Amino acid sequence: MSSTPTFLHLAARAAGYRPSPVRDFWEVSMQPGVISLAGGNPDLTVLPLAGLGEAASRIITERGLDALQYGSGTGTGGARDAVARVMAAEGNPVDPEHVQITAGSQMALELVVKLLCDPGDVILAEGPTYVGALGVFAGMQTDVAHVAMDSDGLIPEALEEAIARLRSEGRTVKALYTIPNFHNPTGITLSAERRPRIVEICSRAGLPIIEDNPYGLLGFDGATLPSMHQLDPDNVIYLGSFSKIVAPGLRVGWAVAPEPLRRPLQLASEATTICASVLSQTLVEEYILGHDWEAVLAKARGLYRSRSAAVQEALTEHMPAGVRWSEPRGGFFTWLDLPDGVSCHAVLDAAIDAKVVFVPGTAFYTGPDMDPGVPGFSQLRLAFSLEEEDTLREGVRRLGEAIRGK
Ligand SMILES: Cc1ncc(COP(=O)(O)O)c(C=O)c1O
Repeated sequence: MSSTPTFLHLAARAAGYRPSPVRDFWEVSMQPGVISLAGGNPDLTVLPLAGLGEAASRIITERGLDALQYGSGTGTGGARDAVARVMAAEGNPVDPEHVQITAGSQMALELVVKLLCDPGDVILAEGPTYVGALGVFAGMQTDVAHVAMDSDGLIPEALEEAIARLRSEGRTVKALYTIPNFHNPTGITLSAERRPRIVEICSRAGLPIIEDNPYGLLGFDGATLPSMHQLDPDNVIYLGSFSKIVAPGLRVGWAVAPEPLRRPLQLASEATTICASVLSQTLVEEYILGHDWEAVLAKARGLYRSRSAAVQEALTEHMPAGVRWSEPRGGFFTWLDLPDGVSCHAVLDAAIDAKVVFVPGTAFYTGPDMDPGVPGFSQLRLAFSLEEEDTLREGVRRLGEAIRGK
Protein backbone atom coordinates (compact mmCIF):
# COMPACT_ATOMS: atom_id res chain seq x y z
CA MET A 1 0.00 0.00 0.00
CA SER A 2 1.47 3.38 -0.92
CA SER A 3 0.44 6.67 0.54
CA THR A 4 1.80 10.16 0.05
CA PRO A 5 4.56 10.83 2.55
CA THR A 6 3.21 13.08 5.26
CA PHE A 7 6.00 15.63 4.77
CA LEU A 8 4.41 16.55 1.43
CA HIS A 9 1.20 17.61 3.17
CA LEU A 10 2.49 21.07 3.92
CA ALA A 11 0.62 23.51 6.11
CA ALA A 12 -1.43 26.16 4.29
CA ARG A 13 1.04 28.87 5.26
CA ALA A 14 3.82 27.17 3.27
CA ALA A 15 2.18 28.33 0.04
CA GLY A 16 2.57 31.95 1.12
CA TYR A 17 6.35 31.95 0.79
CA ARG A 18 7.55 33.19 -2.59
CA PRO A 19 11.17 33.15 -3.69
CA SER A 20 12.73 36.56 -3.10
CA PRO A 21 13.32 38.15 -6.51
CA VAL A 22 16.26 39.96 -4.98
CA ARG A 23 17.91 36.64 -4.16
CA ASP A 24 16.85 35.18 -7.54
CA PHE A 25 19.06 37.71 -9.28
CA TRP A 26 22.05 36.70 -7.26
CA GLU A 27 23.15 34.08 -9.80
CA VAL A 28 22.60 36.32 -12.82
CA SER A 29 24.48 39.15 -11.18
CA MET A 30 27.43 36.87 -10.45
CA GLN A 31 27.99 36.26 -14.19
CA PRO A 32 31.02 38.07 -15.61
CA GLY A 33 30.29 41.56 -16.94
CA VAL A 34 26.84 41.82 -15.38
CA ILE A 35 26.15 45.05 -13.48
CA SER A 36 23.82 44.50 -10.55
CA LEU A 37 21.51 47.30 -9.55
CA ALA A 38 19.38 44.68 -7.77
CA GLY A 39 20.55 43.80 -4.26
CA GLY A 40 20.52 46.40 -1.49
CA ASN A 41 23.84 45.38 0.04
CA PRO A 42 25.82 47.81 2.19
CA ASP A 43 29.37 48.62 1.08
CA LEU A 44 31.55 46.97 3.71
CA THR A 45 34.86 48.31 2.34
CA VAL A 46 34.61 51.21 4.79
CA LEU A 47 34.76 48.88 7.81
CA PRO A 48 37.95 48.71 9.89
CA LEU A 49 38.33 44.99 9.21
CA ALA A 50 41.68 44.63 10.97
CA GLY A 51 40.28 46.27 14.10
CA LEU A 52 37.18 44.10 13.98
CA GLY A 53 39.34 41.02 13.50
CA GLU A 54 41.41 41.95 16.52
CA ALA A 55 38.26 42.52 18.56
CA ALA A 56 36.82 39.16 17.46
CA SER A 57 40.02 37.39 18.45
CA ARG A 58 40.15 39.18 21.81
CA ILE A 59 36.47 38.43 22.47
CA ILE A 60 37.08 34.71 21.99
CA THR A 61 40.31 34.51 23.96
CA GLU A 62 39.34 36.83 26.80
CA ARG A 63 35.52 36.61 26.96
CA GLY A 64 34.93 33.30 25.16
CA LEU A 65 33.35 31.49 28.08
CA ASP A 66 30.49 34.01 27.91
CA ALA A 67 30.57 34.97 24.23
CA LEU A 68 30.38 31.34 23.08
CA GLN A 69 27.73 30.40 25.63
CA TYR A 70 23.92 30.73 25.45
CA GLY A 71 22.90 34.24 26.45
CA SER A 72 19.97 36.23 27.72
CA GLY A 73 16.70 35.95 25.77
CA THR A 74 16.40 39.72 25.51
CA GLY A 75 19.99 40.18 24.36
CA THR A 76 23.29 40.90 26.09
CA GLY A 77 23.58 44.03 28.23
CA GLY A 78 26.38 45.27 25.99
CA ALA A 79 24.38 44.88 22.76
CA ARG A 80 21.38 46.62 24.31
CA ASP A 81 23.64 49.49 25.40
CA ALA A 82 25.00 49.63 21.85
CA VAL A 83 21.44 49.90 20.52
CA ALA A 84 20.72 52.75 22.94
CA ARG A 85 23.89 54.52 21.71
CA VAL A 86 22.89 54.14 18.05
CA MET A 87 19.30 55.22 18.64
CA ALA A 88 20.46 58.28 20.62
CA ALA A 89 22.71 59.24 17.69
CA GLU A 90 19.57 59.37 15.56
CA GLY A 91 17.72 61.51 18.13
CA ASN A 92 15.69 58.59 19.52
CA PRO A 93 16.82 58.01 23.11
CA VAL A 94 15.72 54.67 24.54
CA ASP A 95 16.15 52.75 27.80
CA PRO A 96 18.40 49.74 27.04
CA GLU A 97 16.09 47.68 29.27
CA HIS A 98 13.34 48.15 26.67
CA VAL A 99 15.39 46.70 23.80
CA GLN A 100 14.77 43.17 22.49
CA ILE A 101 17.73 41.91 20.44
CA THR A 102 16.91 39.60 17.51
CA ALA A 103 18.80 37.82 14.73
CA GLY A 104 18.32 40.75 12.32
CA SER A 105 15.31 43.04 12.23
CA GLN A 106 13.69 40.62 9.78
CA MET A 107 13.22 38.25 12.71
CA ALA A 108 11.88 41.06 14.88
CA LEU A 109 9.27 41.81 12.22
CA GLU A 110 8.21 38.18 12.04
CA LEU A 111 7.87 37.96 15.83
CA VAL A 112 5.79 41.13 15.98
CA VAL A 113 3.46 39.96 13.21
CA LYS A 114 3.21 36.53 14.85
CA LEU A 115 2.14 38.19 18.11
CA LEU A 116 -0.28 40.71 16.60
CA CYS A 117 -1.98 38.90 13.75
CA ASP A 118 -4.21 35.90 13.21
CA PRO A 119 -4.60 34.39 9.74
CA GLY A 120 -6.85 36.61 7.61
CA ASP A 121 -6.08 39.81 9.50
CA VAL A 122 -4.98 42.80 7.44
CA ILE A 123 -1.74 44.75 7.69
CA LEU A 124 -1.52 48.13 6.04
CA ALA A 125 1.75 48.93 4.30
CA GLU A 126 3.04 51.46 1.83
CA GLY A 127 2.54 50.56 -1.81
CA PRO A 128 5.20 49.56 -2.74
CA THR A 129 6.91 48.03 0.29
CA TYR A 130 9.92 45.95 1.35
CA VAL A 131 9.78 42.56 -0.30
CA GLY A 132 11.04 40.80 2.85
CA ALA A 133 8.11 42.21 4.82
CA LEU A 134 5.70 40.83 2.22
CA GLY A 135 7.32 37.42 2.81
CA VAL A 136 6.70 37.69 6.54
CA PHE A 137 3.08 38.75 6.05
CA ALA A 138 2.42 35.91 3.60
CA GLY A 139 4.06 33.35 5.88
CA MET A 140 1.88 34.53 8.75
CA GLN A 141 -1.20 34.30 6.47
CA THR A 142 -2.05 37.95 6.89
CA ASP A 143 -3.40 40.03 4.01
CA VAL A 144 -1.71 43.24 2.94
CA ALA A 145 -3.55 46.38 1.95
CA HIS A 146 -1.26 48.87 0.27
CA VAL A 147 -1.58 52.57 1.08
CA ALA A 148 -0.53 55.09 -1.55
CA MET A 149 2.55 57.25 -1.10
CA ASP A 150 3.87 60.32 -2.88
CA SER A 151 7.18 62.16 -2.78
CA ASP A 152 6.52 63.03 0.92
CA GLY A 153 5.88 59.40 1.85
CA LEU A 154 2.73 57.67 3.04
CA ILE A 155 -0.37 59.82 2.36
CA PRO A 156 -2.34 60.39 5.61
CA GLU A 157 -5.68 60.78 3.81
CA ALA A 158 -5.12 57.50 1.94
CA LEU A 159 -4.35 55.81 5.27
CA GLU A 160 -7.57 57.07 6.84
CA GLU A 161 -9.55 56.03 3.81
CA ALA A 162 -8.03 52.52 3.81
CA ILE A 163 -8.77 51.96 7.51
CA ALA A 164 -12.39 53.11 7.10
CA ARG A 165 -12.94 51.09 3.92
CA LEU A 166 -11.49 47.85 5.26
CA ARG A 167 -13.41 48.14 8.52
CA SER A 168 -16.66 48.83 6.65
CA GLU A 169 -15.97 45.59 4.74
CA GLY A 170 -15.78 43.76 8.07
CA ARG A 171 -12.01 43.20 7.87
CA THR A 172 -9.83 43.14 10.99
CA VAL A 173 -7.03 45.64 10.44
CA LYS A 174 -4.18 44.91 12.87
CA ALA A 175 -1.28 47.27 12.19
CA LEU A 176 0.40 49.77 9.93
CA TYR A 177 3.83 48.63 8.74
CA THR A 178 5.90 51.56 7.51
CA ILE A 179 9.48 52.42 6.53
CA PRO A 180 9.62 56.16 7.13
CA ASN A 181 13.27 56.86 6.27
CA PHE A 182 14.84 56.30 2.84
CA HIS A 183 12.14 53.77 2.15
CA ASN A 184 12.85 50.44 0.51
CA PRO A 185 12.16 50.35 -2.43
CA THR A 186 11.44 54.01 -3.32
CA GLY A 187 14.13 55.93 -1.38
CA ILE A 188 11.42 58.36 -0.23
CA THR A 189 11.35 59.83 3.30
CA LEU A 190 8.14 60.53 5.20
CA SER A 191 8.02 64.30 5.79
CA ALA A 192 8.33 65.71 9.32
CA GLU A 193 4.92 67.30 8.90
CA ARG A 194 3.17 64.00 8.14
CA ARG A 195 4.68 61.99 11.02
CA PRO A 196 2.47 63.33 13.84
CA ARG A 197 -0.57 63.10 11.57
CA ILE A 198 0.04 59.43 10.83
CA VAL A 199 0.75 58.72 14.50
CA GLU A 200 -2.50 60.47 15.42
CA ILE A 201 -4.60 58.64 12.82
CA CYS A 202 -3.30 55.26 14.00
CA SER A 203 -3.73 56.10 17.66
CA ARG A 204 -7.31 57.25 17.06
CA ALA A 205 -8.01 54.07 15.09
CA GLY A 206 -6.45 51.85 17.78
CA LEU A 207 -3.94 50.60 15.24
CA PRO A 208 -0.33 49.90 16.30
CA ILE A 209 2.44 51.16 14.03
CA ILE A 210 5.38 48.92 13.15
CA GLU A 211 8.14 51.41 12.31
CA ASP A 212 10.93 49.70 10.37
CA ASN A 213 14.01 51.91 10.37
CA PRO A 214 17.19 50.25 9.12
CA TYR A 215 18.27 53.27 7.01
CA GLY A 216 17.58 56.26 9.30
CA LEU A 217 21.26 57.02 9.92
CA LEU A 218 22.07 56.91 6.21
CA GLY A 219 20.88 60.38 5.21
CA PHE A 220 23.40 61.72 2.69
CA ASP A 221 23.81 64.93 4.71
CA GLY A 222 23.61 63.13 8.07
CA ALA A 223 20.27 64.79 8.91
CA THR A 224 17.74 62.74 10.87
CA LEU A 225 14.02 63.08 11.61
CA PRO A 226 12.22 62.18 14.84
CA SER A 227 10.97 58.61 14.81
CA MET A 228 7.28 57.90 15.16
CA HIS A 229 8.29 55.85 18.19
CA GLN A 230 9.44 59.09 19.86
CA LEU A 231 6.09 60.67 19.08
CA ASP A 232 3.99 57.83 20.51
CA PRO A 233 6.05 55.17 22.32
CA ASP A 234 2.88 53.48 23.62
CA ASN A 235 1.57 52.71 20.15
CA VAL A 236 4.69 52.29 18.01
CA ILE A 237 6.87 49.19 17.76
CA TYR A 238 10.26 50.32 16.55
CA LEU A 239 12.52 47.97 14.55
CA GLY A 240 16.21 48.69 14.07
CA SER A 241 19.20 46.91 12.59
CA PHE A 242 22.99 46.88 12.53
CA SER A 243 22.86 45.40 9.01
CA LYS A 244 23.13 48.65 7.06
CA ILE A 245 25.22 50.64 9.53
CA VAL A 246 27.68 47.89 10.49
CA ALA A 247 27.34 44.53 8.69
CA PRO A 248 24.40 42.27 7.75
CA GLY A 249 26.43 39.10 8.28
CA LEU A 250 26.41 39.75 12.02
CA ARG A 251 22.63 39.23 12.01
CA VAL A 252 21.91 41.59 14.88
CA GLY A 253 18.76 43.68 14.90
CA TRP A 254 16.30 44.79 17.53
CA ALA A 255 12.79 45.81 18.51
CA VAL A 256 11.66 48.41 21.03
CA ALA A 257 8.07 47.62 21.88
CA PRO A 258 5.46 49.22 24.15
CA GLU A 259 5.43 47.68 27.62
CA PRO A 260 2.60 45.12 27.19
CA LEU A 261 4.35 43.59 24.19
CA ARG A 262 7.85 43.30 25.69
CA ARG A 263 7.46 40.05 27.60
CA PRO A 264 5.51 38.25 24.81
CA LEU A 265 8.21 39.41 22.38
CA GLN A 266 10.95 37.98 24.57
CA LEU A 267 9.13 34.66 24.93
CA ALA A 268 8.41 34.42 21.21
CA SER A 269 12.03 35.26 20.47
CA GLU A 270 13.26 32.58 22.87
CA ALA A 271 10.91 30.07 21.23
CA THR A 272 12.45 30.89 17.85
CA THR A 273 16.20 31.22 18.50
CA ILE A 274 16.67 30.85 22.30
CA CYS A 275 18.95 33.88 21.95
CA ALA A 276 20.59 35.80 19.14
CA SER A 277 24.29 34.98 18.55
CA VAL A 278 26.13 36.13 21.67
CA LEU A 279 29.37 36.27 19.68
CA SER A 280 27.84 38.69 17.17
CA GLN A 281 26.26 40.76 19.91
CA THR A 282 29.59 41.03 21.72
CA LEU A 283 31.30 42.14 18.52
CA VAL A 284 28.59 44.78 18.01
CA GLU A 285 29.11 45.93 21.59
CA GLU A 286 32.90 46.23 21.10
CA TYR A 287 32.48 48.06 17.80
CA ILE A 288 29.79 50.55 18.85
CA LEU A 289 31.09 51.21 22.35
CA GLY A 290 34.80 50.99 21.52
CA HIS A 291 35.35 52.28 17.95
CA ASP A 292 34.57 55.56 16.22
CA TRP A 293 31.67 53.95 14.36
CA GLU A 294 30.16 57.34 13.55
CA ALA A 295 33.27 58.35 11.59
CA VAL A 296 33.04 55.08 9.60
CA LEU A 297 29.36 55.73 8.97
CA ALA A 298 30.08 59.27 7.79
CA LYS A 299 32.46 57.78 5.23
CA ALA A 300 29.80 55.29 4.11
CA ARG A 301 27.24 58.09 3.78
CA GLY A 302 29.69 59.97 1.57
CA LEU A 303 30.04 56.93 -0.70
CA TYR A 304 26.27 56.47 -0.97
CA ARG A 305 25.76 60.20 -1.61
CA SER A 306 28.21 60.21 -4.56
CA ARG A 307 26.78 57.00 -5.95
CA SER A 308 23.23 58.28 -5.76
CA ALA A 309 24.35 61.50 -7.47
CA ALA A 310 25.99 59.45 -10.24
CA VAL A 311 22.74 57.52 -10.78
CA GLN A 312 20.68 60.72 -10.86
CA GLU A 313 22.98 62.25 -13.47
CA ALA A 314 23.01 59.09 -15.56
CA LEU A 315 19.21 58.82 -15.41
CA THR A 316 18.91 62.41 -16.67
CA GLU A 317 21.31 61.60 -19.48
CA HIS A 318 20.08 58.18 -20.56
CA MET A 319 16.38 57.71 -19.77
CA PRO A 320 13.91 58.10 -22.61
CA ALA A 321 11.05 60.58 -22.31
CA GLY A 322 8.23 59.47 -20.03
CA VAL A 323 10.45 57.77 -17.42
CA ARG A 324 10.35 59.40 -13.96
CA TRP A 325 12.38 58.58 -10.86
CA SER A 326 12.64 59.36 -7.15
CA GLU A 327 15.40 61.59 -5.78
CA PRO A 328 16.47 59.96 -2.49
CA ARG A 329 18.17 61.97 0.24
CA GLY A 330 19.67 58.86 1.81
CA GLY A 331 19.62 55.07 1.84
CA PHE A 332 20.29 52.68 -1.01
CA PHE A 333 17.48 52.97 -3.58
CA THR A 334 15.92 54.91 -6.46
CA TRP A 335 12.48 54.03 -7.83
CA LEU A 336 11.59 54.35 -11.50
CA ASP A 337 8.19 54.86 -13.14
CA LEU A 338 8.25 53.63 -16.71
CA PRO A 339 5.85 55.00 -19.32
CA ASP A 340 2.35 53.52 -18.89
CA GLY A 341 1.96 50.02 -20.27
CA VAL A 342 5.71 49.26 -20.43
CA SER A 343 6.30 45.94 -18.67
CA CYS A 344 9.09 45.82 -16.08
CA HIS A 345 9.44 42.12 -16.86
CA ALA A 346 10.00 42.76 -20.58
CA VAL A 347 12.50 45.47 -19.68
CA LEU A 348 14.24 43.04 -17.31
CA ASP A 349 14.60 40.42 -20.08
CA ALA A 350 16.18 43.03 -22.35
CA ALA A 351 18.31 44.34 -19.49
CA ILE A 352 19.68 40.87 -18.69
CA ASP A 353 20.67 40.55 -22.38
CA ALA A 354 22.41 43.93 -22.01
CA LYS A 355 24.08 42.67 -18.79
CA VAL A 356 22.39 44.79 -16.18
CA VAL A 357 19.87 43.67 -13.55
CA PHE A 358 17.38 45.42 -11.26
CA VAL A 359 14.34 44.31 -9.26
CA PRO A 360 11.00 44.56 -11.10
CA GLY A 361 8.37 46.73 -9.41
CA THR A 362 5.78 43.97 -8.99
CA ALA A 363 8.04 42.29 -6.40
CA PHE A 364 7.17 45.06 -3.95
CA TYR A 365 3.41 44.61 -4.05
CA THR A 366 1.22 41.78 -2.91
CA GLY A 367 -0.80 39.86 -5.50
CA PRO A 368 -0.17 38.61 -9.03
CA ASP A 369 2.97 39.92 -10.64
CA MET A 370 2.90 39.16 -14.37
CA ASP A 371 -0.54 40.49 -15.39
CA PRO A 372 -0.49 43.74 -17.36
CA GLY A 373 -1.57 46.69 -15.27
CA VAL A 374 -1.03 45.18 -11.82
CA PRO A 375 0.67 47.49 -9.29
CA GLY A 376 4.37 47.74 -10.02
CA PHE A 377 3.98 46.53 -13.62
CA SER A 378 5.59 49.71 -15.00
CA GLN A 379 7.97 50.36 -12.11
CA LEU A 380 11.37 49.13 -10.97
CA ARG A 381 13.94 49.54 -8.21
CA LEU A 382 17.59 50.46 -8.68
CA ALA A 383 20.08 49.95 -5.84
CA PHE A 384 23.16 52.18 -5.88
CA SER A 385 24.76 51.08 -2.60
CA LEU A 386 27.40 48.66 -3.81
CA GLU A 387 28.72 49.46 -7.30
CA GLU A 388 31.31 52.15 -8.12
CA GLU A 389 30.09 55.38 -9.74
CA ASP A 390 31.35 54.56 -13.26
CA THR A 391 29.77 51.12 -13.10
CA LEU A 392 26.47 52.64 -11.97
CA ARG A 393 26.57 55.13 -14.87
CA GLU A 394 27.19 52.30 -17.33
CA GLY A 395 24.41 50.22 -15.75
CA VAL A 396 21.94 53.08 -16.14
CA ARG A 397 23.06 53.61 -19.76
CA ARG A 398 22.36 49.94 -20.53
CA LEU A 399 19.02 50.16 -18.74
CA GLY A 400 18.08 53.21 -20.85
CA GLU A 401 18.71 51.19 -24.00
CA ALA A 402 16.68 48.27 -22.66
CA ILE A 403 13.73 50.58 -21.94
CA ARG A 404 14.04 52.30 -25.32
CA GLY A 405 13.76 48.91 -27.03
CA LYS A 406 10.33 48.24 -25.43
C1 LIG B 1 13.15 47.87 5.13
C2 LIG B 1 13.97 46.72 5.60
N1 LIG B 1 13.64 46.10 6.74
C3 LIG B 1 14.35 45.08 7.21
C4 LIG B 1 15.43 44.57 6.50
C5 LIG B 1 16.16 43.38 7.05
O1 LIG B 1 17.18 43.76 7.89
P1 LIG B 1 18.03 42.72 8.76
O2 LIG B 1 19.27 42.40 7.98
O3 LIG B 1 18.30 43.45 10.03
O4 LIG B 1 17.19 41.50 8.99
C6 LIG B 1 15.81 45.16 5.30
C7 LIG B 1 16.92 44.62 4.52
O5 LIG B 1 17.09 44.88 3.36
C8 LIG B 1 15.05 46.28 4.85
O6 LIG B 1 15.36 46.90 3.70
